[in-house]
Order: sequence, then C-alpha cells, then structure tokens
Amino acid sequence: MRLLVTGGAGFIGSNFVRHVCAERPDWEVVVFDLLTYAGDRRNLAGLEQVKLVQADICDEPAIDAAVASADAVVHFAAESHNDNSLHSPWPFVQTNVVGTYQLLESVRRHEKRLHHISTDEVYGDLELDDPAKFRPDTAYNPSSPYSSTKAASDLLVRAWMRSFGVQATISNCSNNYGPYQHVEKFIPRQITEILEGRRPKLYGSGENVRDWIHTEDHSSGVLAILERGRIGETYLIGADGERNNRAVVELILELMGRERNDFDHVNDRPGHDLRYAIDASKLREELGWRPRYNDFRAGLEATIAWYRANVAWWHPQKLETEAKYQVLGR
Ligand code: NAD
Ligand code: TYD
Repeated sequence: MRLLVTGGAGFIGSNFVRHVCAERPDWEVVVFDLLTYAGDRRNLAGLEQVKLVQADICDEPAIDAAVASADAVVHFAAESHNDNSLHSPWPFVQTNVVGTYQLLESVRRHEKRLHHISTDEVYGDLELDDPAKFRPDTAYNPSSPYSSTKAASDLLVRAWMRSFGVQATISNCSNNYGPYQHVEKFIPRQITEILEGRRPKLYGSGENVRDWIHTEDHSSGVLAILERGRIGETYLIGADGERNNRAVVELILELMGRERNDFDHVNDRPGHDLRYAIDASKLREELGWRPRYNDFRAGLEATIAWYRANVAWWHPQKLETEAKYQVLGR
C-alpha cells in the first residue's frame, strides 16, 4: 500500500501518519503538505516509511503527480482555525474549497480511493439542553468561514461520488486534543500561557461546549474507515467527551498546580458556536470502532507533559500567535 496523506505535517495529519507507521509497518506513506504556518516537518521526524513532498494542493500538476503514484489518499490538508477565518477568510476558500476540488479531479482521473477528513462544525451548533446529537443525516448549517468551507468541501466530495463514481468516504470528527497541536487552538494555548507564567484566556462566559476526543482515537477511526468503511458513506467520529470551556480551563489549572479560578475572561469570538456533540454509533456498530482514551483527565495530563517537554517545538509559534490574538483583543 502506498498511501498519500495531504496535510500530514499538521497536528492531526502527523498523528495519523505516526499511527499508520505503527499499525501498518509495511505501508509506504507520502505526505503532501505545503508546510504553512501550521505544518512542521519536525512532526514527522524519525519516521522511515514516510516521504515528504512540500507542495500546494491547489497546484494541479503537483497534486496530480502525487495522486497518480498512490493507491489511496487521506485528505487532511486544510486551513483549520476559526479565529483566523474570521479576519482572513480567503485562504480558507482557496485551500478548503479549491484545493479539495483539485484533489477530487486528480482522484477521478486516476481512479483512486479517497477518504476525506472533515469536522462536526459543518452541522452548526446545538442548544445546551438539546437531547439530539449530530448524526450523519443531520442537515448542514455551518456558521463561520472555516466551517462553511469545510461543508463546501464535503459537498464537493459527495457530488464527485454521485456524479463521477469517485470511490470515497467522509468522516466528521469532533474537537481533537493531544501532542503537536498548534498553540493557536484552545487547549495548547491555555497550557502554554500557564507555562509562560500568564493566565488562561476564556472567550465570553466559558459556557460553550466542545466534544473532546484524543487525536489517537481520531486516527484509529480514520484507519478503520479507510480499510473497512462502505464506499459512499459518511461516518461521525466522537468519544462522548462533552465539556464546557470553563471546566476544561479549570482542570488544566488544577493539573498544573494553579488555583482553578486563575484565568481571565476575554472578548468572545463573533458568531461563536454554542455546543457540538457527536453520535458515533454508526462507526461503533458498523466497524466495531472503540475509543481507547476514555479518561480525559489522564489524556490532558499527558498532553500537558508533552508541552512541558517540547518548549523548543512550540515557542516560535507562540510568539507569532499571541501577537495575532493581541490585535483581536482575545
Ligand atoms: P492543522 O492546521 O494543524 O494542519 C493542517 C495541515 O495542512 C498543515 O500541515 C498545513 O501545512 C497543511 N496545508 C494547509 N494548506 C495547505 C495547502 N494548500 N496544500 C497543502 N497542505 C496544506 O489542522 P488540524 O487540526 O490537524 O486539522 C486537520 C484536518 O482535520 C482538517 O481538515 C480539519 O478541518 C480537520 N478536523 C480538525 C479538527 C480539530 O479539532 N482540529 C476536528 C475535526 C476535523
Ligand atoms: P478552538 O480550539 O479554536 O476550536 P473550535 O473553534 O474549532 O471549537 O476553540 C475551542 C473552544 O475554546 C471554542 O469554544 C473557543 C474557545 N476558546 C477560548 O475560550 N479561548 C481561547 O483562547 C481559544 C483559542 C478558544
């Protein structure tokens, strides 16, 4: 198997590549990644099965050559941060929509198997007391430039499956945490604020709920779908990890030996989605998938230890990220 992984030098992509190297040592993996501010070749250090091609998925000849020489493609490459999409939406349209289009055309031309990675944010948000969770047939209702461009990419994949017979599957996963996550995101931002001697920063009231999953469980879900998923289907990946942001900040503070109320409220995100929640029963029942990282406290403790041990990895991106947040007043 020669597997092409777009965006494989980013947070979730590189964790997936490491998972594949451990689980399928005879596979060859080609990572196709532009190495934007969010990609880092160090995320793939020491992986002998892996070759890195640095290129843009919007670059037709480059993506076409990579797809032609692969047996299957897993597509992680995207602009991924809501806050960035709110002040600079164009890269989101370009990479998430145009890039996915270019990839789909190559996959169609060369008749390759595709697994498309997406997010639960395409479904919009839920009320705090809504008993229903997101399911594969929930109507799309995205809120931000990030989630609307991911929704657009999902719809392109669906259209290419139906109109051109492209052999694809889609997964929509909830919020990931774990090692190698960029410090612009919620959990690593708070951990590194504390490591730098500052206070965590909670948007608005902190009542917003996210459904946390360890990135390793996302990886095992994607591999199961790639190998055993039914072509044409959408699977939701989630581990029943709902928590509000305030509770997560309090737990991080406690685990790092600080008072639980030692945080600041900062300006809220415009259009901030209230709650996400995933019903992953299709993935569990059809493919027998189970999350292994069920203890959020233990997963968070390990993640904090990783950021403590890898200051050289995150320090340069931290300076740049906090300068951006300062402009936004967040
Ligand atoms: P990330 O920002 O850490 O990584 C994105 C990677 O894509 C980077 O390595 C970047 O260099 C690369 N990239 C960006 N533009 C590119 C382009 N034009 N051509 C080639 N490579 C390009 O993101 P992440 O958090 O690892 O998310 C990966 C995927 O998973 C995304 O599709 C995202 O929508 C999806 N997802 C993320 C979450 C989450 O919690 N972070 C949850 C569900 C789904
Ligand atoms: P984030 O990691 O950006 O993921 P997403 O927007 O895709 O859910 O944010 C997770 C939650 O944390 C979201 O409700 C916004 C909130 N948040 C903060 O309260 N403070 C922060 O500094 C950041 C970056 C996010």
